[in-house]
Amino acid sequence: MNDHIIKLRTAVFDDIPAIVEMYRETVHTVNAKDYTPAQIKVWADGAVNYPRWEKAIKEQYFVLAEIENRLAGFSSIAKDGYLDFMYVNKDYQRCGAATTLLKEIERKAREQKNPEIYSHVSKTARGFFQKMGYEHKEDIRDLYKGELFINALMVKRLK
Ligand SMILES: CC(C)(COP(=O)(O)OP(=O)(O)OC[C@H]1O[C@@H](n2cnc3c(N)ncnc32)[C@H](O)[C@@H]1OP(=O)(O)O)[C@@H](O)C(=O)NCCC(=O)NCCS
Repeated sequence: MNDHIIKLRTAVFDDIPAIVEMYRETVHTVNAKDYTPAQIKVWADGAVNYPRWEKAIKEQYFVLAEIENRLAGFSSIAKDGYLDFMYVNKDYQRCGAATTLLKEIERKAREQKNPEIYSHVSKTARGFFQKMGYEHKEDIRDLYKGELFINALMVKRLK
């Protein structure tokens, strides 16, 4: 369904509670298909790290997508072209929110003069990034709170 109006704006610290809630719900529902309950628990619990969100909002380009005044998704890119976050609300999957966010992130990357965008992509999101022209370079083993996550290093060269 693509009949939703998606609005973009940059995040501020006051958005953090809504970001945390949405992130936890997405991990517990959407990512839960692809990961073990133990992995989902440490991943979702990581959301309570407020300094991490504050640092990302302050130092990265951190953009929110809103549908009907609800948080539908968010994404961020660091100054060096690292795409840190890309999460979509469980209620707005496959509505084009991630596509809209990624177009804006890519616009910003070009503005920052990044030669490429790179990211450590979950199993759940790999198909989306492939569709958007990102190439799988290698698997990255990220150990987080005792759980092993095998993420894909995915890269898109910008023209
Ligand atoms: C991956 C994710 C961001 C995609 O968000 P989305 O808003 O549903 O994506 P879009 O609606 O813009 O999808 C655009 C196209 O990408 C492709 N796509 C999206 N999700 C896909 C999936 N899981 N598998 C294969 N292709 C997918 C489809 O071709 C889709 O077009 P279609 O719906 O017309 O078929 C979302 O599923 C999500 O939040 N996943 C969980 C969080 C996560 O793992 N984030 C990455 C952490 S690194």
